[in-house]
Amino acid sequence: MLRFRRLRNNEAVRNLVRETHIPKSCLIYPIFVEEGRNIKRAVPSMPGIFRRSVDRLPEIMDEVQKSGICGVLLFGIPEHKDEIASSAYDENGVTQQAIRFIKNNYPDILVIADVCLCEYTNHGHCGVVHGGKICNDETLPLLAKTAVSFAAAGADIVAPSDMMDGRVEYIRRELDRNNFCDIPIMAYSAKFASGYYSPFRDAADSAPCFGDRRTYQMDFANGREALREISADIDEGADIVMVKPALAYLDVLAYARERFDVPIAVYNVSGEYSMVKAAAQNGWIDEKRIVTENLTAMRRAGADIIITYHALDAVKWLEEI
Ligand code: PBG
Ligand code: ZN
Repeated sequence: MLRFRRLRNNEAVRNLVRETHIPKSCLIYPIFVEEGRNIKRAVPSMPGIFRRSVDRLPEIMDEVQKSGICGVLLFGIPEHKDEIASSAYDENGVTQQAIRFIKNNYPDILVIADVCLCEYTNHGHCGVVHGGKICNDETLPLLAKTAVSFAAAGADIVAPSDMMDGRVEYIRRELDRNNFCDIPIMAYSAKFASGYYSPFRDAADSAPCFGDRRTYQMDFANGREALREISADIDEGADIVMVKPALAYLDVLAYARERFDVPIAVYNVSGEYSMVKAAAQNGWIDEKRIVTENLTAMRRAGADIIITYHALDAVKWLEEI
């Protein structure tokens, strides 16, 4: 008889044959930075997550540094929003200030800057709007200007999340032209139009004021198209590709892992986090067990990098399993 249970008899032997591990070095923690002073504002739909002003970043950055995770993904929330997202590429913009602050004070922590326009436009769309349409090609120069400006402020990696076509190539060319040929691009390649982003849009003040994002983000029914998106981004020069959200798209992640040899990131998004938190607060699930199980599933499906709001809790829990 095949006795699988022989290798399940005690914790030591289970650890010995465990196939999937989550090193601290693969975890990235998202951070929201709001313009202003002395701000630490709770995000109601994301228990445990706060929007902070630059001067109050040390409270969270000290924790990030102590935790041993590898980096943060930065989202800036500017005071001034307009049609052309000018705060996104203002050298004194809130995101640029946050990047400089973190790189000056925590030089060893990787700073990944999210590149998109939706936090900076008055209409909340990820691109330039003309006549109610989100224009692709008009958006590319603004995204590239933003990426160059983040690199100039000291970002280690830029991460375009807008889903305009051709943006990776455009951003790569502009980074290179400005002597940032060593700055990698982590592309949100297979980013689906998802209901799981709702809490984020409260956190980042980035909900579109008309329509939705389905003309640029992917239809969640399409797995093969996701692989074409990833393949196109690799051809355009993406150094790291991403699947987003995570849990409902582990099939896409696993297919991508089989097919491509570049590092793959997965984004365990706001709605996924909020569902776990809400159920845990009600006593309906054991948060620690659920989080370690979810993150392990992402890793098992093929993620090299996991972006998650659970990162700081997870490092503590992962040491125990
Ligand atoms: C902005 C952006 C979004 C997320 C990351 N970058 C929101 C969106 O596309 O509406 C979602 C992150 C999350 O839900 O945690 N383009
Ligand atoms: Zn956006």
